[in-house]
Amino acid sequence: MRSSRHHFLAIAVAVFHFAFTFSSSWALKPATHLKPEVVGPLGQQLFEAANSPEFFNWMVNIRRKIHEYPELGFQEFKTSELIRAELDKLGVEYIWPVAETGVVATIGSGEQPVFALRADMDALPLQELVDWDHRSKIAGKMHACGHDSHVAMLLGAAKLLQPKRHELKGTIKLIFQPGEEGLAGAYHMLKHSALDNIKAAFAIHVLPQYPVGFVASRPGPVLAGSGRFTATIKGTGGHAAAPHLSKDPIVAASMAVVALQQIVSRETDPLESRVVTIGQIIGGQADNVIPESVKIGGTYRSLSSQGLLDTKARIKQVIEAQAAVHQCQAEFDFMEETPLPYPVTENDEEMYEHAKTVAEIILGKPKVQLLPVTMGGEDFSFFTQKMPATMFVIGSRNKSHVLEHLHSPYFVIDEEALKVGAVFHVAVAVSYLDTYGDGFASNRDEL
Ligand SMILES: *[C@@H]1O[C@H](CO)[C@@H](O)[C@H](O)[C@H]1NC(C)=O
Repeated sequence: MRSSRHHFLAIAVAVFHFAFTFSSSWALKPATHLKPEVVGPLGQQLFEAANSPEFFNWMVNIRRKIHEYPELGFQEFKTSELIRAELDKLGVEYIWPVAETGVVATIGSGEQPVFALRADMDALPLQELVDWDHRSKIAGKMHACGHDSHVAMLLGAAKLLQPKRHELKGTIKLIFQPGEEGLAGAYHMLKHSALDNIKAAFAIHVLPQYPVGFVASRPGPVLAGSGRFTATIKGTGGHAAAPHLSKDPIVAASMAVVALQQIVSRETDPLESRVVTIGQIIGGQADNVIPESVKIGGTYRSLSSQGLLDTKARIKQVIEAQAAVHQCQAEFDFMEETPLPYPVTENDEEMYEHAKTVAEIILGKPKVQLLPVTMGGEDFSFFTQKMPATMFVIGSRNKSHVLEHLHSPYFVIDEEALKVGAVFHVAVAVSYLDTYGDGFASNRDEL
């Protein structure tokens, strides 16, 4: 007994030792490969270029033009045209259309490693209420999530990168993506062969919670995986005065909505994050008629793929069971095709460290913050599921409109953020190629 335990221990130690030496021999710590004496001057030089009035005004004008003509997901025709016109002027090659309106520009050697920078292009179905010269000219549509600025920043990155194209130790792909707002544009672009050989990816999102010059992110899950559903609860309609002759779907739906609350409060580990929200109930037309059916619709979210699957399964069971209690039936639409459920946005630790270290060098340590996890969704998650990728938010607080948040009809940015975005994109991409472009990438490929 004793000796066999010793034997077991010896094996365990050997296995552990092997795993440890094995992992430490291949684990790349890019952050330690980043040389402040290289990245620092690169950042300075990029900021000098971005600060020039000619460069900055060019970015601002692009952002304002897109802001005035917002287009919804997969209808970004003018936006796509503007992007291509600017790329043409810069002499940057691109392919188009990728997923209807998407554009993929390429700068660099054409060889591996290929690093991707991504900007989303679509607006929201929302009436702009900001009173300023460049407000949306399209009724009921607005860039209230800053995607107009994301496009301007990525074009800014193209303009900064183009003069460096012959020095790059690999290839940078600039991805202008349609349909982020619920339409899984990232998923549809990733199906295209133009995005096949990408080694790693980076994306930026403006956030008015931080002042300009600050950036924030965190390793691991940062935004929730999210799905939507509708359930139609069917009963038998009737006269309000004779409920016994009907099967009342209003009562069944009401009980279902209440019962759904227990999935998070009673079935989920209190230390795990999930959301079940019913956002609409549609049913009935008159106070004195019991309707045939009631439709409820909602969203479910989790910070893990398993949590997402479990929640979805329980929503179905709970609604079915509540419908049955009230002698009704339930039919579901979990929208597996459109809109596709979004997976969890999970920042790769190594990529996160890389971008964070670059930001610390070019912006200063105090300006790089740890972003709290939120249960919002983002289709850059499809990138993070497929390759090492990381997303950072950059501060865009406008001092004259401090309280505004994403998706508000009063949403504004401070356009100074465009400079930070363009420079951050380029510094992350160039230093990635510097780190992985000299054989590091092939090391990683083998393992
Ligand atoms: C703040 O927002 C308003 C409205 O969009 C805009 O007119 C102003 O230029 C913004 N300030 C900066 C510094 O961008």
